[in-house]
Amino acid sequence: MGSSGRWIIWTLCACFAARQKTALRIIMRESSLEVVRGDSVLLPCSFFTFSDFSSLNVIWTLAPFSSPKTPVQVIVFDHGQVIKNPSLIGRVHFTGLPFSADIILNDTQVSDGGIYRCMVNNPPDTADPDVGELLLSVLEPPSLPVCEWDGAIDMGGSVRLSCSVEEGVPPPKIRWKKVTPEEISLPINMEVQCHQRVSCLSGELSGSVQIVNVSSQTSGLYRCSATNVLGTENCYVNLAIYNNEAAPDSPSGLLPGVLITLVMSLVLLALLVLVLWLHRTGQDGRGTRGDRKSEEEECYNEIRYTPSLMKRSFV
Ligand SMILES: *[C@@H]1O[C@H](CO)[C@@H](O)[C@H](O)[C@H]1NC(C)=O
Ligand SMILES: *[C@@H]1O[C@H](CO)[C@@H](O)[C@H](O)[C@H]1NC(C)=O
Repeated sequence: MGSSGRWIIWTLCACFAARQKTALRIIMRESSLEVVRGDSVLLPCSFFTFSDFSSLNVIWTLAPFSSPKTPVQVIVFDHGQVIKNPSLIGRVHFTGLPFSADIILNDTQVSDGGIYRCMVNNPPDTADPDVGELLLSVLEPPSLPVCEWDGAIDMGGSVRLSCSVEEGVPPPKIRWKKVTPEEISLPINMEVQCHQRVSCLSGELSGSVQIVNVSSQTSGLYRCSATNVLGTENCYVNLAIYNNEAAPDSPSGLLPGVLITLVMSLVLLALLVLVLWLHRTGQDGRGTRGDRKSEEEECYNEIRYTPSLMKRSFV
């Protein structure tokens, strides 16, 4: 049984090979290719034929990743004429006709990714054209991610950090890390909002982190990184959690920043008043004192602006 089974298979193979000898045959030198967006790529398609090239017909189609069920014509060679898809004019051309059906695609876009089919027909070689398939992936580095946060930054509150990245093939990996004061990796919930319904080769990815029961230890600098084989892009969020309960004696609720601003404004105001006052006093005393002397005193007094000191030096 075993040997007769093998015999049948061998016969089938032999018949197939014999039939192929008279048929046009396509050899795809590559089954899949990767190219970085913007670069050129050669899509190879070799064929063997026993007829001359007078009736050679080549059709390249693309079933894009975004819509694999609706293939589009890329470029056609028919009756000695080349016809290109209007959206690809200037970016695609045959190279090596009529001996090969190779094409070059320039300035590749992510939307060029998909399954390319090369169909060659050369009557009277065979009634059935042969078809070769090739998968093209157009890679692109991640775009700059967008970092956002929302929630309550009071003690015991809950904060959500989210990071989204629009571009990147293969889809970037999103990571959240606390970078200061000490480095901590954070567990992340990934969400995928695909722009394209069928595949997510170019959708918007986002990764979020939920921090519950925040405390002053939660404060720090957080980094989101979006990484794929072509690179990494980062964005940052600085979280400051205000500790309202810890210091009941100090003016609670007043942020240190506000305090500093207040003090600075008071000092500036005092300086302004001082300068105006000095100016007036200087004008009054111009008749009795030399200009240089009063200038010196002005300088001296601007540094020590305490009103009591001022009075003493001007008596
Ligand atoms: C593609 O780029 C190559 C090299 O830059 C150029 O020679 C060729 O003409 C371009 N093809 C098309 C269709 O523009
Ligand atoms: C929140 O954190 C504080 C101290 O950090 C802790 O005492 C408290 O039990 C936490 N509450 C919850 C609900 O985990």
